Amino acid sequence: MLSDKLPKIWYGGDYNPEQWDDPRIWDEDIRMFKLAGIDVATLNVFSWAMIQPDETTYNFEFLDATINRLYENGIHTCLATSTGAHPAWMAKKYPDILRVDYHGRKRKFGGRHNSCPNSPTYRRFAPLLAEKLAERYRDHPAIVAWHVSNEYGGYCYCERCEAAFREWLKKRYGTLENLNKAWNTRFWGHTFYDWDEIVAPNELSEEWNGNRTNFQGISIDYRRFQSDSLLECFKLEYDAIKKHTPHIPVTTNLMGTYPELDYFKWAKHMDVVSWDNYPAIDTPVSFTAMTHDLMRGLKSGQPFMLMEQTPSQQNWQPYNSLKRPGVMRLWSWQAVARGADTVMFFQLRRSVGACEKFHGAVIEHVGHEHTRVFREVAELGRELKMLGDRILDARVEAKVAIVYDWENRWAVSLSSGPSIALDYLKEVHNYYDALYRRNIQVDMIGVDEPLDRYDIVIAPVLYMVKTGYAAKLEAFVARGGTFVTTFFSGIVDERDIVRTGGYPGELRRLLGIWAEEIDALPPDRKNRIVMTKPYGELEGEYECSLLYDLIHPEGAETIAVYGDDFYAGMPVVTVNRFGAGRAWYVASSPDGEFLERFLGTLCAEKKIRPLVKAAPEGVECSRRVKDGRGFLFLLNHNAEAKEVELHEGRYTDLLTGEAAEGRTVVPGRGVRLLEEA
Ligand code: GLA
Ligand code: ZN
Repeated sequence: MLSDKLPKIWYGGDYNPEQWDDPRIWDEDIRMFKLAGIDVATLNVFSWAMIQPDETTYNFEFLDATINRLYENGIHTCLATSTGAHPAWMAKKYPDILRVDYHGRKRKFGGRHNSCPNSPTYRRFAPLLAEKLAERYRDHPAIVAWHVSNEYGGYCYCERCEAAFREWLKKRYGTLENLNKAWNTRFWGHTFYDWDEIVAPNELSEEWNGNRTNFQGISIDYRRFQSDSLLECFKLEYDAIKKHTPHIPVTTNLMGTYPELDYFKWAKHMDVVSWDNYPAIDTPVSFTAMTHDLMRGLKSGQPFMLMEQTPSQQNWQPYNSLKRPGVMRLWSWQAVARGADTVMFFQLRRSVGACEKFHGAVIEHVGHEHTRVFREVAELGRELKMLGDRILDARVEAKVAIVYDWENRWAVSLSSGPSIALDYLKEVHNYYDALYRRNIQVDMIGVDEPLDRYDIVIAPVLYMVKTGYAAKLEAFVARGGTFVTTFFSGIVDERDIVRTGGYPGELRRLLGIWAEEIDALPPDRKNRIVMTKPYGELEGEYECSLLYDLIHPEGAETIAVYGDDFYAGMPVVTVNRFGAGRAWYVASSPDGEFLERFLGTLCAEKKIRPLVKAAPEGVECSRRVKDGRGFLFLLNHNAEAKEVELHEGRYTDLLTGEAAEGRTVVPGRGVRLLEEA
């Protein structure tokens, strides 16, 4: 459990009372928080300049008063350290804290999330502030969690980072000889004879457009290094806090599938994962579901915190659509259904100035509670209160895992060829979506996760196969597991150096195939997957697109062949028996119908049961388990009511108290939370 001080799903969000110099407003806030059932406020996210007006002065009085006022009214504090934006005076006095951007320009003061992660100034003052906060509030009963900095991200290309990069490289490669090999620097005559010759890869050197590079090895390493540098900043604050409050969980708010940081690595150093969920109106709900599952996967299934979501709309998207009536509640329950133990908003009161004044808030500019948004927030507050600790800390159990790896994503996105349309995340989502439609519970896992608890492991576009991973997959399949991978897999090692001797490199033995060539066609060109004979639910033909591996079976059985082009008749889907299990290769990117039937068949073979007997399109299912008792969530993303056919057994709806059995109706944009008898 996150904290025994607040044994329920936490409800609240970012609260910035410092933006209003008016005690009447602060009192009004409290009154309205109570009306809304809010019991936790995230404080102090951007108050560094207020707390520390100069190098030696620290003022905590305002924070003291806020924490106390909230606590006296039953509201706990998730305490941020404020280090997501440095003060202006600090930037002026110590310009090393300012980043150099991708174009090589030294930044001036401005914005946020703007500190150089290798700046000695930042590394001195940020943990110092965290430590002072921890010292001050160590025994305050209000504090339920620590929120370090805010949405770490962005890279720096300054000379200090460059120097630190060289040190990082020395640790990784030991010698320049190893480094030159790893980066294949004889290409274009780039051999380095001195560490100091190495520079940061950006627009001034090897990269352009943010993800085009001459040297994938250098660019991937710089991403690893910057992710590590920011992580070190987090760890400095983490350690400073832990000295004083070892039992209070420390987190930092992540951003889902944010590309720049290797969150699997980060999560190892966080007590609990938290993240900010901001889908656009056209984000597929299954993409949000996948992201929640990924956030849960970062710490091997441990419940996570939904740290931020908007109650109504954002301000930073091109079109900041309102969440339709009911949708805020629905998406909040979606987070809980997938493992969140908190529901929190950005922001509790809407700013009056600067760029977030049009960002939704629990308390809108009108200032009273008679708004649609407030009513919906208060309604959800009541439900969460009623639920108490019933499902707190409940786990999600999945037999199917999808592998997701940030380093692989970097490598794929930095690859020059075979296709600019290749989007790792999209391919991963295609597989996820097919399982989602079939109501199969999925875990999103990293490459360090043990595989023995799964029956099926799917690794779409596993381009980078790190040392040891092929052996791990072989062991999984040999023991009886089903493995699925796709085109453009097994190509390189962790240095982005091709494993020669035929694609898919180290996976060749497991898959029993050899890929001779890879064709790439524009997205509007397609080929056909033609079944050689029906297989489970699969029969006839399907479409495929994007990339087309030209493969030769070496022991694998051909299940389907290409229908067109000069490789018509060559295998496109194969399966190889390996020990007690089977390994599948899908040589192109199939349409959704193929994937649904294909994965549905594999699940049936493994006797993996969908979460319900039948659910119409747009009804999402997820299940959490606590002390052996299951809680089934039915989330209807349609505007109209839909009927779901449950598995045998009796259920009680924890939100309405009604019994359910057999066929049950989920209202339009509604939620059923069914406890199994
Ligand atoms: C992020 C930040 C918040 C706020 C919101 C607005 O998640 O963490 O401070 O800017 O975006 O959507
Ligand atoms: Zn820097």
